[in-house]
Parts: sequence; structure tokens; C-alpha cells
Amino acid sequence: MCGIVGYFGERNGMPIVLQGLKRLEYRGYDSAGLVLLKENTLEIIKTKGKVSELIALANGREAKIVVGHTRWSTHGEPNYINAHPHTSMDNSIAIVHNGIIENHAELRKELQEKYNFTFRSQTDSEVIAQLIQFFYKGDFEEAFRKMLTKIEGAFGIVALHKDHKQILCARKGSPLVLGVNNGEFFIASDPSPFLEYTKEVIYLNEKQMASIEETGYKIKDFNGFNIEMEIETIPFGIESIQKQGFEHFMLKEIYEQAETIQNCFRGKIRHIENISIKKENIKRIIFVSCGTSYYASLVGKYILEKSSHIPVVVEYASEFRYRHPMLYPTDLVIAVSQSGETADTLEAIRLAKKLSCSVAGIVNVTGSSIAKECGQGIYVHAGPEIGVASTKAFTSQIIAMNLLNVYLNKDPYYRAELIEELEQLPEKVKAFFKTQDVKAIAEKYKDSKYFMFMGRDINYPVAMEGALKLKEISYIPAEGYPAGEMKHGPIALIDENTPTVFLVTKDTVYTKVISNMEEVKSRKGKIICICNEMTEEIERLSDDIILIPKVRWECTPILNVLPLQLFAYHIANANGREIDQPRNLAKAVSVE
Ligand code: AGP
Repeated sequence: MCGIVGYFGERNGMPIVLQGLKRLEYRGYDSAGLVLLKENTLEIIKTKGKVSELIALANGREAKIVVGHTRWSTHGEPNYINAHPHTSMDNSIAIVHNGIIENHAELRKELQEKYNFTFRSQTDSEVIAQLIQFFYKGDFEEAFRKMLTKIEGAFGIVALHKDHKQILCARKGSPLVLGVNNGEFFIASDPSPFLEYTKEVIYLNEKQMASIEETGYKIKDFNGFNIEMEIETIPFGIESIQKQGFEHFMLKEIYEQAETIQNCFRGKIRHIENISIKKENIKRIIFVSCGTSYYASLVGKYILEKSSHIPVVVEYASEFRYRHPMLYPTDLVIAVSQSGETADTLEAIRLAKKLSCSVAGIVNVTGSSIAKECGQGIYVHAGPEIGVASTKAFTSQIIAMNLLNVYLNKDPYYRAELIEELEQLPEKVKAFFKTQDVKAIAEKYKDSKYFMFMGRDINYPVAMEGALKLKEISYIPAEGYPAGEMKHGPIALIDENTPTVFLVTKDTVYTKVISNMEEVKSRKGKIICICNEMTEEIERLSDDIILIPKVRWECTPILNVLPLQLFAYHIANANGREIDQPRNLAKAVSVE
């Protein structure tokens, strides 16, 4: 996944685009570049490395038409040559691209062998600029559209031609949003780069393009026919994407969860009919998702099966799409995705549609590819999640699972009780943050070399999520298990150097979890216990205890995960890790 920002107007667009690229580094940060259009000349500035290096290189330059890119490499290693923008052989055209051109090799081969084109980079993206040159006979937009007919795959493309005061862009599978503000225009992968200039936006839909010129903008389909698109107003402000005094975006996003879970249920909880998912004739729900969203899906399974008695299957999207799943028209396949751009999840939904299933999305990013592909679902409204490690999106996904449960449940008394509990959750989340000091406990274990996380029933997926949080930002090996699995192998790993985090709530499996804790204790394992009630056993068996407020079982994952998020954060921070942009990761895995 990569970040794109462009400006067209009367201001010097350089500081706008450079600041915008900084805000999009969560989408990828291994190289960056700019193209400036001035007096029929394209000036390219690129760097292997982060946007801060590009800012230094671009110091003092000015331009009223400028497009920038920050990269997460998919084809070709992160280096100067492979950094975007890419130019055509004759340097008349420059493009930036987010996505994958799946037929780039054959196109490159044809241009090289039949038409003597020379290529500079190892990227798939370069073929876009070369194709536009190939088709260019004086009409930039016509050449751009002809290029679009040749490429296959996922793309968000923004292009400039040295002889045309115009920005052209196109979307298929990767997001692009146009910002409009009294004769100046912005184009970006999401609205955060230009929020302080305008909140009036147009999300390009699949297979739509836009032309930006001095006379204004036009939205068209790939055949060049004009399309009237409504201007939307972004509901969040620039403050949503600043750190607001926190050291890292991840910490800010952890602490804003009382607000974000409220934003998720606001407007739906008392008007559950506002959930637009068609539910007639649905006999089974299949969640398709990855990573943290997969664990949220598992929580959804426990809630929906136990409370609404609906069969639920949870599938890794990357497995689902290749294993020829047995699907029926009475299946509702739901994509769960924070970014709405995860390639495997998007393709899993496309497979489900091809097999005549109903589909829906539980998505955070409005206007994202998965949201558009599904056409119905629940937006979790967690706001931009900048930290690569997902936190507030997870708890909002759990709220969405509970909203789906209310929406599908047939017992009005049960629904009323759950709605009342959900409305009290923000205060309980705030109470937790006020009373518990996770930092001190985390720092006590920061030098441990391996951790286990254990939970049963609805706490099992939360244990898995706690392990993922820790390993992805601290790089310390950690495994989550259903506590009942311990005796089937993992207990061999327990010794005095292995801290085990137990999630213990006074529920139907409480005594079973206590037995598991006994087994760890008898092997000198250290125990960190997250519980919602102090008992004699917990006090006797635990080395450290974190108390969370009592809530209904359907909502315990929201409270239980908070200390796990902070535990991972403080251990990683104490070890000097790069919290918001962990190594090897990007915010959305929009390529396979
Ligand atoms: C979670 O902290 C990770 N960043 C990762 O597992 C993520 O949840 C996964 O890539 C799915 O992303 P999505 O929710 O945007 O589809």
C-alpha cells in the first residue's frame, strides 16, 4: 500500500503535498518522491527513505501543480530508481501509483521488443507512464484512457504531462479521494493530507477517473463519459490525525477508545434498523478477514452463535479464497477490515459474490475498496487509525459485532439489556484508564524473551490479539492459545522465564482457567492476570493483577483488550521500538 497526494491551485503546493505525505507514511515508508509541473517541464525529486529526506531535498522549491508519493514496495526493492514518480521514456509524462499492475511484464515486454521502449526501474508501475507515451498523439486524457484499457490489476494512478496544465487520476481497487476548495483541488489516498484546507470531498468509485484543470474538475468513467458525483463532507477534523500530545499515534488511539466505541454505536443503537444489511433468508454468516480483524471476527462468532443462535464460520481470507469453499445463496459473507483495502479480504468478497452469496462489510475507512465492493454493512467510524498496530478499530469492530447481534436477535428483552450495557461502555473504558497502571507491570517484563497469552471462550480470541499486538510492535515472540490447549503441547514451554498472561472473567469457564493457572504456577511460570473480580485463587496464583470493570460477557473483549494493548505498547516502548511504523509492516496489506 502506498500514499498519494497531489495539489492543483494558486498556492505553492509543495508544503501541502510534503506535509500530506508525512500523514500518509502509515501507508508505506520505504521511499518517496515528487513531480512538479512548471512551464512545460516536469521536475522529479525522489529519495530512498522516508518523507523527511524528501522534505530536505525539496527545500525551497515551489510549484502550483505538484504530486507526491510515499511507497511500500511490492515490485522492485526499495531504492531511488524504484521510488515513484515514474516517467515515460521521453520524460514527457510522470505518474504515481498505488496497487499492482498484474500484466505489467507482458506490457513491458511488448513495449521493449516491438516498440524499442527502454525502462529504468524494476517496478510494475513504470509501465503506466510508458503506455501513456505510447498512446499520446496530443490528447493527454485520451492517451490516459487508452492506457487504462490495457492495464489489469489494482490501481490508484495520478498522472501529469509536461505540456498540459492538468492532473489526471483513476481508481480501480485502490482508493483516491478528491478535495475541492474554491478553485483549488487536492487528490489523495485518504482525506488526511488536506483536511485543514477542505472537508468537501468526492470519493472516486471503482473504474472512475478525474480530470483536474484550471476550469475545474470532471469525474468520468473509463470510457470518458461524465459522471455526476455528490460532494461529501468529512465528519472528522485535522485534530483527528495529530498525536494530540501523545508520544505515538498508537497510544493516542488506545486512549481515544471510549470516544471511538461511542462513535461506532451512535445513530445505530437506538435506530438499529439503520443497519443496512439485508437479513432475509440468511441461514449462516461467514466472516472473512485477516490479522486483528480475524480475531474480532472470532469474537463475533461467540456472540452471534451464543446469543442469536446463528451459525457462524470465521475464515482467514487468504485461505478462503483459494480452498474452493462450500458456499450457498443463504450465506452472508461479511468482510471485516479496518483499512477496507486488504487484498485477500477484498478478493474473498469478490469470490463470495461470484458464488451468489450476499456480502457485507464491517469496515473503518469509508469509501474504501472493500466497502464499495460490499455495498452494505456497518462502518465502525473509529476515525483514521494511523498506528500500524490496530487498537481502536478492534474495539469498534467488537461494538459492530454487538450491533449486528442486536440487529439479528429476535428477543426484545435481550436486545434492550445489551443496548443498555453498550451505552454504558464508554464510562467503563474511562474508569479502567483512570485506575490501572499497566506501564509498571509491562516494564517489569520488558526483557522477557517469550510470552504466552491464554483465554477461554470469548476471551480466547482476545488472547490471540494480545499476542499479536506484542509481537508486531516489540518483535518479542508471543503466542496466544485457548487455555484448554495448554496440556496439548504449549505447557512444555513454561518455566520461570516464561510470563503467561491469563484473561480470567467470572464466567462458566472460570474454574477451568484457574486450573490452567495452577498448571503454570506448578512449573514456576510467572502469571499476569487480567480479571474482572478479585478472588482468593487469583490472588494466590498471580504475580501481577490488572483489574478491569465488570461488563456483560458480550462486551468483556472490549475491556480485556485494553490492558493488552498497553502491555504491548509499554514493552515495545521500553525496548526502544519504532511503535507506529514497526519493521516489515504497513497499515494495509493491499497486495497479496
Ligand atoms: C493488526 O495490528 C495488524 N496491523 C494486521 O494484522 C491487520 O489487522 C491486518 O493486516 C488486517 O488489516 P485490515 O483490518 O485493514 O483488513
